[in-house]
This record gives sequence, structure tokens and C-alpha cells, in this order.
Amino acid sequence: MSEIKTIDELDARGRRVLVRVDFNVPVKDGAVADDTRIRAALPTIEKLVGDGARVILASHLGRPAGEGFEEAFTLRPAAQKLSELLGKPVVFATDTVGDDARAKAASLRDGDVLVLENLRFDKREKKNDPAFCEQLAALAEAYVNDAFGTAHRAHASTAGVAALLPAYAGYLMQREVSTLTGMLEAPRRPFAAILGGSKVSDKIKVIDALMDTCDTLVIGGGMCFTFLLAQGKAVGASLKEEDWVERAGAMIAKAEECGVRLLLPVDVVCADRFAEDAETLTVSADAIPDAMMGLDIGPETAKLYAEAVAEAKTVFWNGPMGVFEMEPFAAGTRAVAEAVAANADADTIIGGGDSVAAVNKFGLAEKMTFISTGGGASMELVQGEELPGVEALR
Ligand code: 3PG
Repeated sequence: MSEIKTIDELDARGRRVLVRVDFNVPVKDGAVADDTRIRAALPTIEKLVGDGARVILASHLGRPAGEGFEEAFTLRPAAQKLSELLGKPVVFATDTVGDDARAKAASLRDGDVLVLENLRFDKREKKNDPAFCEQLAALAEAYVNDAFGTAHRAHASTAGVAALLPAYAGYLMQREVSTLTGMLEAPRRPFAAILGGSKVSDKIKVIDALMDTCDTLVIGGGMCFTFLLAQGKAVGASLKEEDWVERAGAMIAKAEECGVRLLLPVDVVCADRFAEDAETLTVSADAIPDAMMGLDIGPETAKLYAEAVAEAKTVFWNGPMGVFEMEPFAAGTRAVAEAVAANADADTIIGGGDSVAAVNKFGLAEKMTFISTGGGASMELVQGEELPGVEALR
């Protein structure tokens, strides 16, 4: 981030500052169901408010059609939650760059906060449309991007507008990028990466990239069965991607070449169907019955993985080990989460998405060094891709 200006360099007093945040949060019955991302943006918002800026927050929520207002995707609940968290009123504009937004932005006083309606109600946002960028820029005198979770999108509010105003990174953006790049460039060793989730095809680039830098690579989740297939094992009715067996085999070979310790399951919890009340059986990884599907790593595997985590000085974790949402298949993910939480000497970094949900479910979030607010964005960064939202600030 060295060549990127941060909000510490912004003289914000009395100026209208457009801040791109990622308030893409789950909403249930008109209320925010998980406010993690809103809380994560508070340091930047509070700093700007404290400096006497006139703060204009812009975000997307969900994936509306882009043809105007849709109740299911309004940012009003996020604005209400923000007001509660800040302990002060927050103004809400019923449009994004229209009359209401312009009038409310113009009448802000120093330290006031305005939340604009969902950027994606206008299809020009995702197209990075130049006229839309101009309209966003016209609302403010400076621009801050704190939306790390959306930094992998080249949209008007994350990319185009940055060229039209003096642009700065917020504190969350800074911390996310420096933590993840620091982990890749100078991890304390041994560095153990734990990857789970259902598909090899989704994770192959991350596996490949981490193979170049980590000491131990631990694989779990549905994607482990494609690796077991590559090892010549039968996986019964487990999730598998036949087209990816060869690539999985190439990763096993790469681990040997690079001297990376690659850990795959040695036992598996199987079920006769994908259901909470299914019949279950724990078997060796080379004895999965034809009619059964693996839905979690087994206890021997969990022990092996926990030992690898305990030895590490840096741990990166992305993706659950099994179907942790169902109690009979949660033990593997719980064991890994507990092992990561218990390693107080290590830098423990949770890479967004489902592993964050798992860590929260098991009440272990406080024990982690860093939990990324970006699922897709953190994966793209780890796999070595440039993030448009970060590049635009350079
Ligand atoms: C996310 O939740 O990953 C970000 O907010 C980006 O959302 P998107 O995948 O709809 O662009």
C-alpha cells in the first residue's frame, strides 16, 4: 500500500467525502442479520466524523436487476444499524445520484453522515459507466475506498470514480491488504494453509498460489474427494469433479516438487444421504462405500490437521472441512477452528466466506488475529490477482 494515500493524509474538515463501503450484509425481515461488515467500516467513518468531514457513504447490497428500486435490496436497514453503532443520527437518501442524494449531500454539516441508496439500483454502477462516475464524483470533494470486500470488482464506485477525485484508502482497506500481502510475502514459518469448500475448480488458483509460499497445505471439504480420486481412491457417492482430477493430481505432484507437506483426509464421515438425520459411518479414506457420500473429515484426520495447525506460526484458513451447518458433519470444521483459535502464538488469518461463518458459529472469532471481510476479494488477492479497487487508488 506504500504508494497509496490513506485517510491519515486527507484534510477532511468541512469537505464532502464520498466513502465506498461494503455494506453488502445479510438482511432478514427488514433488519441487518450480521453487522460484521458495518462494524469493520466504523474506524474509517468515525475518523472522518471526528475530523469534521461531511461523510457520504455508498455501497451495494445484493444483486438487484439494476432497473431501479427493489425493496429486498434497500440499504435503509444498513443505515439504521450504522446509526445505532455510531450512536448518532444518519441521514438516508432514497436515491444514489438523483435529486434526493444531491440535496442531502449539499445540506450536510461538518461531522454528519449520509448513506446513499443501493448503487446497484442503477445498472451503470456495474458497467463502470463514465457518466455515472461523474455523477458520483459531483457529490463530493474527496473519495475514500474502504470496501475491501468489493475491491475485486471494477465498478463505478470502486474504480471509475477514483480517477475523478483525490482518492484515499480507508483503514479497513489498508488493514486487509497489508495483512494478506504480508502473509504471502513474509509469513512467520512454518506457514500452514487450510483450504476447504466444495469445489476444486473454485479453489485451484488459490491452492496453486499458496503452494509457492506455504510449508503445509491442508485440504478438506467437498473438494478433498477429487484429490482422493487423483490418489486412485474410490469416493462412492461423494461430491467429485471428474474434469478436475488431473489438475488435483498435478497439485499433488507440485507439492512434492516444492517440498510442501500436503495433508489429505485419512478418514471420512460418510452418510447415506445429504441430510441431518442420515445414517452415518466413519471409514478410512480408502474404504468409502459405493452408496455413501463423505460429508466431513474423520476424527483421525481432524487430529492430524489440528497438529499441523498447532506447529504453525502463520495459519491461513479458507473453507469448511465438512457440512458444518449440519451437526453430524460439523466436528471436522469445529476441530480445525478450535485448533486455529488455540494457537495463540501464531498469526491466524481467516480468509472470508464460510470459514468466517464457522468461526462465528463456534464462538471463536475473538481468538483469531484477523478475519477478512472479503470472500471473493481475499481469494483473488491470495491467488496473485490485482484488485481493481486497490489499483484505482494508486
Ligand atoms: C461480496 O459479498 O463478496 C462483495 O460484497 C461483492 O459482492 P458481489 O459478489 O455481488 O459483487
